[in-house]
Amino acid sequence: MLAMVYRGPYKVRVEEKDIPTVEHPNDAIVRVTLAAICGSDLHLYHGMMPDTRVGHTFGHEFIGVVEQVGSSVQNLKAGDRVMVPFNVYCGSCYFCARGLYSNCHNVNPNATAVGGIYGYSHTCGGYDGGQAEFVRVPFADVGPSVIPEWLDDEDALLCTDALATGYFGAQLGDIVEGDTVAVFGAGPVGLFAAKSAWFMGAGRVIVIDHLDYRLEKAREFAHAETFNFGKHKDIVLEMKRATGYLGADVVIDAVGAEADGNLLQHVTSAKLKLQGGSPVALNWAIDSVRKGGTISVMGAYGPMFSAVKFGDAMNKGLTLNMNQCPVKRQWPRLFEHIRDGHLKPNDIVTHRIPLEHVDEGYHMFSAKLDNMIKPVIVPTAS
Ligand SMILES: NC(=O)c1ccc[n+]([C@@H]2O[C@H](COP(=O)([O-])OP(=O)(O)OC[C@H]3O[C@@H](n4cnc5c(N)ncnc54)[C@H](O)[C@@H]3O)[C@@H](O)[C@H]2O)c1
Ligand SMILES: [Zn+2]
Ligand SMILES: [Zn+2]
Repeated sequence: MLAMVYRGPYKVRVEEKDIPTVEHPNDAIVRVTLAAICGSDLHLYHGMMPDTRVGHTFGHEFIGVVEQVGSSVQNLKAGDRVMVPFNVYCGSCYFCARGLYSNCHNVNPNATAVGGIYGYSHTCGGYDGGQAEFVRVPFADVGPSVIPEWLDDEDALLCTDALATGYFGAQLGDIVEGDTVAVFGAGPVGLFAAKSAWFMGAGRVIVIDHLDYRLEKAREFAHAETFNFGKHKDIVLEMKRATGYLGADVVIDAVGAEADGNLLQHVTSAKLKLQGGSPVALNWAIDSVRKGGTISVMGAYGPMFSAVKFGDAMNKGLTLNMNQCPVKRQWPRLFEHIRDGHLKPNDIVTHRIPLEHVDEGYHMFSAKLDNMIKPVIVPTAS
């Protein structure tokens, strides 16, 4: 089969790989019909994620058709059209029993902090991902769901990560009716978080980025007020001005450890590796939320220390909520919103790229070329 393969930082290509086989009675083999590249894949692509091994296939946002199931699989059969959450999880450990699917204790022998994620390095379990013609899906009775007939393929695809994560980001903001919600980052996660904030009663939604084409999408798709941090000397001051000098009630960080906006942070993180990442967006969140407010962190951060303004967060009495998204938990509400016409997830899809050209897709997404927001990968076999 053809699969995207990692060859080193900034080097990915399509290669021939063996079609995965059932290794455990509860495995399914899924023929991938659509996959996506996520902002999280860029952290791998840029070599920021520890233990990303050469030969690994990325891709944690994908849907497909069940090709084969192991002998104990009861909920799926060959031919089912399925959506697969990005988390690999057992469904029965202490954490899964409490809905913390992204914190499953049984799926990742390499780390205790994080559970399993498809195609997300050996730090997240070493499971090959879905940017390929076929993928092995462990715990097939737990993660995947048959896609409801009324749900379009691309919309189902986005439910497996970006949309679920954006929605979860808004949920973790504990939004109270009328709240001013500021979202840092106008990528797919930020756009969906901004849109979801309205569903939860926000009175105002503000999105901050430095890419004008994404801010335009934030205005059009998420009806947000927008600020380009590249055009303001001090974005925190702008946020204060915009909120009666109190600060926003809720701030969502949809940027993560590769944030732009501060040269010193960039040099000490990406270049010199003195920090696990650049905490610019997180620090801006801490500075621009009001005292007693809530910060929801959806942006991904690595395991090592970074110069986070933790003292300010403490002294302002902030609540910090964060996690990798437990994707399947969000599906019932997302299905309602999509079905009721409140949301058309694939409005943010800008590119559809054949798997054969996945290298080009990564390059364009990383360099933010051609106004790319969300690239979808289409495998040949589909
Ligand atoms: N928690 C989870 O479960 C989960 C799931 C999916 C993605 N993520 C993470 O969410 C983050 C966003 O994902 P995405 O797919 O939207 O990525 P993306 O790379 O497409 O978007 C990130 C956006 O942030 C902007 N940005 C950079 N620095 C900024 C700053 N200082 N302030 C404001 N905006 C800034 C960029 O211009 C870009 O538009 C990534 O870190 C990703 O790893 C987390
Ligand atoms: Zn992702
Ligand atoms: Zn578990």
